[in-house]
Amino acid sequence: MSEKKEITLTINGEKVKGNDGDTILDICRANNIYVPTLCYLEGLSSVGACRLCVVEIEGERRPNPACTYPARNGLVVKTHTEELEKYRRLILELIFTERNHFCWFCAASGDCELQSLAYRYQMDHPRYPYTFPSLATDTLNDFLVIDHNRCILCGRCVRVCNEVVGNHTLDFGRRGWRTTVIADLNQALGESSCISCGACLQACPTGAIFSKVSAYRGRVEECQSIQSVCSLCGVGCDINVLVKDNNIVRIDGANLTSPKGPLCNRGRFLQVHNTATRITAPLMVDKAGITQTASWEEALDSVASAIKDYRRRYKRSSIAGLISSICPNETVEAFARFMRHTVGTSSLDIVDGKAYRTLTQGIKASGKSILRLDTESPLEAILGASCVLVVGADPLESHPVAACYMLRARTHNRAQLVVIDSQDNCLGSRADVWLQPNAGGMDMVIRALAGLVANKSERLDQPQKVTSVAEAAQASGLSPALITQTADIIRGGQVVVVFGDGILDKRDPGLVTSVLELASLANTDGPKWISLKPRGNSRGAWGVGVDGGYGIAETRPRLLYLLLADDGYIAEDCLGLAEQAEFLVVQASYVSPLTQAADVVLPSPIWAGRAGTYISLDGRVGRSQRVLEPPPGMRDDLEIIAELAKRLEKRRRMP
Ligand code: SF4
Ligand code: SF4
Ligand code: SF4
Ligand code: FES
Repeated sequence: MSEKKEITLTINGEKVKGNDGDTILDICRANNIYVPTLCYLEGLSSVGACRLCVVEIEGERRPNPACTYPARNGLVVKTHTEELEKYRRLILELIFTERNHFCWFCAASGDCELQSLAYRYQMDHPRYPYTFPSLATDTLNDFLVIDHNRCILCGRCVRVCNEVVGNHTLDFGRRGWRTTVIADLNQALGESSCISCGACLQACPTGAIFSKVSAYRGRVEECQSIQSVCSLCGVGCDINVLVKDNNIVRIDGANLTSPKGPLCNRGRFLQVHNTATRITAPLMVDKAGITQTASWEEALDSVASAIKDYRRRYKRSSIAGLISSICPNETVEAFARFMRHTVGTSSLDIVDGKAYRTLTQGIKASGKSILRLDTESPLEAILGASCVLVVGADPLESHPVAACYMLRARTHNRAQLVVIDSQDNCLGSRADVWLQPNAGGMDMVIRALAGLVANKSERLDQPQKVTSVAEAAQASGLSPALITQTADIIRGGQVVVVFGDGILDKRDPGLVTSVLELASLANTDGPKWISLKPRGNSRGAWGVGVDGGYGIAETRPRLLYLLLADDGYIAEDCLGLAEQAEFLVVQASYVSPLTQAADVVLPSPIWAGRAGTYISLDGRVGRSQRVLEPPPGMRDDLEIIAELAKRLEKRRRMP
């Protein structure tokens, strides 16, 4: 890659350096020269809408916006003159009088770029009459409100929605002073194509867009800001959590304009306001069969003596442990050690262990030694793809920020988006092609595509698996022409194949093999594939090797220890195993059918109350921080496991 040419400018009488292609604002920022801005946001295109950043440039007849003016070698620039400062104050006065900016009622007061500039320019009153147009407030979205009265038409929300999220919901509507931000064809945000990611909220420099779950809960300067990682799904977005008085006020994307910056509504909003019922004290079923609150000593003693009892009466494999991969690596490792070495059982699994086994068996059956979990492509590969092929996955529902990569690839790269899924699929309706094969026809379609993409059957590792287009069309109910057209899109480009629960939950390793075969054939420089793993730390938990290779259902455990933590999704397998168990221990954060069925419930901290490392679905290590002090009397998962181990080891040593 060619190095950018260095250029030298004179700014405020000082020689400063920059690079060819920089704007004047880029160079000012790189050299710590303050220039006020409102419509500019690093990482978005610059539009020069607000004119706050105007500077004087020698040879130019009038001030120019620094955010759009390309820097050149030898330019002489002034950023702060009496005229410029007067001009900026005038702009602020006009913005304040154009709509309604009475800060004391505004949710953004204290965290508003417009208000800060007004203080900076000592704008204690505007010299012009207020116009106060009566503009609507859109409250129909579940999480966001748009108050057009506070909008300064900077366009940051429009650009972040288009350029970063790739969702293209927002734009400007109407003309002149009637101009407003609109969603789709001027629909309410809650009835539009908006995916409620909240990126526009984070980009907005005023209180025009605010969050229903965070408004008026605390000002930024009153909050502690803690960097962490979202553990709700395997994308593993970096988050910035604002905390006041041991309450979460707000969650932002740590770097909004990076690919993982938008977050999704679960990561941004639902973790701030979770209405599920917390478990904050141990529970035990008494002799009358009624669940009662218990002390930690009673609950831990009861679990330890039940483990000892079942170990004595039955084989050790009668005891099984099952852990959610929403837990960080440290907890998964400690749980695995405890079950294997202290309890002495190898019946140990993760709640998404079946997905792991389907994937690894599919990889093995492909016969390609180059295929391993660690050869999966990073999510960034999607941004460079000419075609993204999504098979058996609805990332807009399951991994929304991964879906944003795909929407962004379409916007920036004109990548073709092909979805193959028989189920309802939110991404399907936005794809260039959405193949909806009949249930059971998916594998045939994939194999027919592999045959078409390969062109010559000798390139196929398993030519016997090739399906003809006619056979695939008959089995899937799709037209042969559609299958052939799809192969034409896939063939000969940079294709990234993404698959998810529609493949992994089917527990058919052969389907995985077919998808991987297609991924191999679609690219000449090796397969590019990404599996959307079910939970926040699936990849980490799978790597710890909790999986016993077969799953614990086969061992029909009599005592089941289920470490669910704050996993809100309970798989049917879990319920089945729990129902069969004679003694059920559930370590969980929230009340659920499983905790209601348990003999002993041990309270577990939620994500905000624990720290640890997570591995994202594409192998990136993230560290989550404890952002809240747990309620009094709560214990960490690691401490609970250690306490149980202490009790069991003590009993073992007794004569
Ligand atoms: S919430 Fe996200 S998708 Fe919806 S309008 Fe804002 S940026 Fe666009
Ligand atoms: S809603 Fe906010 S970000 Fe969007 S144009 Fe108005 S002030 Fe700018
Ligand atoms: S996409 Fe996943 S990791 Fe990112 S904010 Fe949403 S749930 Fe959290
Ligand atoms: S920041 Fe440059 S014109 Fe708005």
